[in-house]
Amino acid sequence: MEMDPSMVAALAAVILVSVLLVLSRLKKQSSPQDGPRRKQKLPPGPFGLPVVGQTLGLLGALRANTAEAWLRRQVSKYGPVSKLSLFGCPTAFVVGPSANKFLFSSTALTAMSNRSFNSMVGWRNIRELAGADHRRIRAMMVQFLKLEVVRGYVASMDDEVRHHLRTHWSGHATVSVMPSMKSLTFDIMCTVIFGLGREDHAAVRRELLAGFEPLVRGIWSIPVNLPFTTFGKCLAASQRGRRAVAGILKEKRAKLERGESSPSDDLMTRMLSEGTSEGEIIDNVMFVMVAAHDTSATLLTFLMKHLDANRDAYARVVAEQEEVARSKAPGDALSWEDLGKMKYTWSAAMETLRLVPPVFANIKRAVEDVEFDGHLIPKGWQVLSASNMTQWDDAIFPEPGRFDPARFDNPIPPYSFVAFGGGARVCPGNEFARVETLVAMHYIVTGFRWKLAAGCDGSFSRHPLPSPAQGLLINIEPLEATTTTTTS
Ligand code: HEM
Repeated sequence: MEMDPSMVAALAAVILVSVLLVLSRLKKQSSPQDGPRRKQKLPPGPFGLPVVGQTLGLLGALRANTAEAWLRRQVSKYGPVSKLSLFGCPTAFVVGPSANKFLFSSTALTAMSNRSFNSMVGWRNIRELAGADHRRIRAMMVQFLKLEVVRGYVASMDDEVRHHLRTHWSGHATVSVMPSMKSLTFDIMCTVIFGLGREDHAAVRRELLAGFEPLVRGIWSIPVNLPFTTFGKCLAASQRGRRAVAGILKEKRAKLERGESSPSDDLMTRMLSEGTSEGEIIDNVMFVMVAAHDTSATLLTFLMKHLDANRDAYARVVAEQEEVARSKAPGDALSWEDLGKMKYTWSAAMETLRLVPPVFANIKRAVEDVEFDGHLIPKGWQVLSASNMTQWDDAIFPEPGRFDPARFDNPIPPYSFVAFGGGARVCPGNEFARVETLVAMHYIVTGFRWKLAAGCDGSFSRHPLPSPAQGLLINIEPLEATTTTTTS
């Protein structure tokens, strides 16, 4: 790509300022004023190059889908607690179930997202909030994500799934699964959590999707805001998303004031009714939109990939779903009780989350000096643990590369399966994700047979969410008398 001289100068200035900022930060973090005791106990390992540290190495490994091997090399060189520099910040990399426990339960650590993510989503998003602020926002979200409430979403999810398959799969010979699942999970979220119906909010849903579609690629991008950088493009898209959310908020506020809506209708109305500031509402709506749809879409996509590659498991899922379909009158929506009969399908989904966790790493920040496993982690450092370090550990999950849903028939050792995180920050959307996955899989499995299209090998990279080549292109064949065609 050609850059004009002003762009080159701007880029050079940004890099220079970043160099100075990070150098001064690294110097401060390991300065002699901390005394010999602190220096002695820091985790082993180098900080790497100034400014970038090991960031580019890790990002490159994620893209090449070799990040596990990259992290294992770090462990074999420096042990289960080591240090490195990521995204311009000193980082302790910790490994194993006890490290996960530490990460999820230590009060010396607070949740955080990186600067790029926060710049796009907004700095008052739930992950950046602590203490009473975190509890307040989380409580409002949980109102719409708790089990008793999610039970009531089954019929709406059922309708969205059937509509999607009728519109985007029926009559087609091939489907690119990832984009299809992203659009489906985005639609489900809009209908169910934000009360933006398919017909009455069609235009605003399109506008929102345009703002959110590109966002995920910018989550771990280098925060250089120029028109041609990934970060710059994602930031522009997020601003479009924010404007769309602000428009919806205005409409919802007016309805609330006219007494035409109630706080239990949807998350935005609830937040408005509790006096949450507009900025905080927008940041958290942005957060939920990202957290809720890309993760679930990744799960559905990789579940289909693994079922394609594991025909015995595929046959068991088909048998389970066909039995549910046979127990129902044609055209009837799934019920909460039906989902209770889909145990093997959910085990297959959990096994998919074990093998390909959508969220690669959990990062926290030390709010005070804290010791772990004999090493000092100074205040201000990041602490990083990667799900695959325990989920692919053969001492915990024998033959870890084998797709075996039956593993989940037995209890899993604590802090070993961490795809939804843990502790006070555990993903509050896990039940929502379970229900939408089961509803979607029911209609996919009973409506179609699929196999990977010629030339699609199922390989994937991470950006940082797993992204399959060609979006996972599959050939599909409709089955006779599909349940997807029986309702409007
Ligand atoms: C397969 C799907 C999903 C996966 C794998 C997933 C994974 C995660 C993980 C790993 C975390 C961080 C937990 C921690 O720090 O310990 C998280 C947080 C969160 N997730 Fe999910 N998630 C999924 C679906 C959803 C859905 C559907 C929603 C909402 C509808 C959602 C909303 C959230 C929220 C609001 C947080 C922040 C919680 C807090 O900081 O208190 N997630 N998720």
